[in-house]
Amino acid sequence: MLTGKKIVLGITGSIAAYKAAYLCRALIKKGAEVQVVITPAGKEFITPVTLSALTQKPVVSEFFTANDGSWHSHVDLGLWADLMLIVPATASTIGKMANGIADNMLVTTYLSMKAPVFVAPAMDLDMYAHPSTQQNLEKLKSFGNQIIEPTVGPLASNLEGKGRMEEPDRIVEVLEAFFEKKGELISKKILITAGPTYEKIDPVRYISNYSSGKMGFALAEECASRGADVFLISGPVQLQTVHPHIQRINVESAEEMYRAALDYFPKMDLAILCAAVADYKPVHCAERKIKREAGENLTLELVPNPDIAAALGNNKTDRQRVVGFALETDDEIAHASEKLQKKKLDFIVLNSLREPGAGFQGDTNKITIINSKGMIKNFPLKSKKAVAADIMDTLRNEGYAY
Ligand code: PMT
Repeated sequence: MLTGKKIVLGITGSIAAYKAAYLCRALIKKGAEVQVVITPAGKEFITPVTLSALTQKPVVSEFFTANDGSWHSHVDLGLWADLMLIVPATASTIGKMANGIADNMLVTTYLSMKAPVFVAPAMDLDMYAHPSTQQNLEKLKSFGNQIIEPTVGPLASNLEGKGRMEEPDRIVEVLEAFFEKKGELISKKILITAGPTYEKIDPVRYISNYSSGKMGFALAEECASRGADVFLISGPVQLQTVHPHIQRINVESAEEMYRAALDYFPKMDLAILCAAVADYKPVHCAERKIKREAGENLTLELVPNPDIAAALGNNKTDRQRVVGFALETDDEIAHASEKLQKKKLDFIVLNSLREPGAGFQGDTNKITIINSKGMIKNFPLKSKKAVAADIMDTLRNEGYAY
């Protein structure tokens, strides 16, 4: 998977920098071409001589070579690379990357990078846990960068906790998995619904639910990173899309989501219906704000919204696949299996509000995938990003060609 891949390896000033030498060797052994860019502080921890001997290339650190004035182009590196890897990444470099502080060659190269970027933080546990570091990491994620989480273990400070850089062999595995999946969905068109819907009561009020859109957006990013063209129909959420292959269609009500989904579906290979669509809407939306009448109850009459999943399930052709979600609070497997059948889905992703860390709003989810052939596959609690990868891997591994 790494043969011929061009990798810019950014090294920063951490005690874990010595591990970058092992990483260099492992990447080259796998056939990758590695160009090291090191910060001035990084050179205090590992010498450029070691790194250039391993990579067979001069190490880049300054903007110019002092004796002949030759210019090292960060722009050229940004165009050359198939991937940039920052290992180890200190709190300081992460902060500079998150805020565009381009005062060294590594950060300038990062800002010019056209290829995907992976970051493996390494630092003391308190520095890692600090809100400043966590906010900067969140910012990097929102730019589409992949964070290779540090592990829990003994640290250079003699303390023990989360902050230990991931081992080089594991980092190589992450990159191999990335390149393996990268082209898997090329030329596939995938429709994803995400977020809540708003059903208007009057000009200032609506019926809705707690969906943040995080699960659906994680799926959209995962499919796009595997090469698909993604059409993301989203209810009102506070999230940004990052990948250029995601076309976002914003809607507000279930009716609007239904019309957009039906419009796009004929050209799609796969639809994943992750939105928390309101099942009912008020019969009428009042033209003016409904006034409070002292002592009187207010009765709202509701009518059912169209069922998007069922409409796509009923209309799908032999080459199209439809995946639904089921959000349950009781008798989970039975209810999800019933929805799978009724809506004619290929498989359904069950998440239960009884599971801590699952469902609405958080960054994690815990799912069970059920298909029409009787497969029931449980997954542990994971980040929504990892859950999205599990869903796409299961589709592939269970032979759902589309
Ligand atoms: O957005 P997050 O905060 O990250 O939360 C994620 C989530 C909990 C919203 C998500 O994981 C999830 O479970 N989404 C489906 C929620 C839901 O409405 O489930 P349901 O069991 O009511 O619906 C079953 C399926 O039919 C779903 O695929 C739903 O999108 C679809 N549906 C439902 C009603 C309707 N009118 N049209 C539909 O397409």
